[in-house]
Amino acid sequence: MNKVKVLFVCLGNICRSPLAAATFKHKIKNNGMASWIEVDSCGTSDYHIGDTADPRTLANASRNGIAIDHCVRQLSNQDLENFDFIIAMDKSNHQNILRLSNARNFEYKIRMMRDFDPVAKGGEVPDPYHGNEKGFQEVFEILDRSTTNFIAFLQKECGER
Ligand code: 4NP
Repeated sequence: MNKVKVLFVCLGNICRSPLAAATFKHKIKNNGMASWIEVDSCGTSDYHIGDTADPRTLANASRNGIAIDHCVRQLSNQDLENFDFIIAMDKSNHQNILRLSNARNFEYKIRMMRDFDPVAKGGEVPDPYHGNEKGFQEVFEILDRSTTNFIAFLQKECGER
């Protein structure tokens, strides 16, 4: 059976999406779903291609017990074909994904991360890049809730493989 493939997308791929992917990965490793789910993250921009995650993201993740091992890459047309769920952090990411030339064929795969937030459904994951640790921790808490709920959704929709 093919794996379910999940891609988290933000602008730079150094703050939100690598943290979302690592948090998600940490949880599916612990709950036995890792054998049937593949996870990655990328950015819509080319600003940080080849970099590691932002040091503030790494520090925040570590404080929250999450390890991040990621090299920044940019979203491509191929990703829209390959992945089953493409999860945007904010509306601008969502719009940028739709700018890819093949996006109209795959619009049904694109979701907003906070559509899975049980506390504030439908909002955006704020960009913490110009902020401080408080902003990074707020992002972590949003992603923590949203990934838990997204995992429950996948368990229900896609089940054991
Ligand atoms: P991210 O945050 O999209 O969560 O990785 C940002 C990272 C870098 C920039 C903007 C947002 N930047 O302008 O370089």
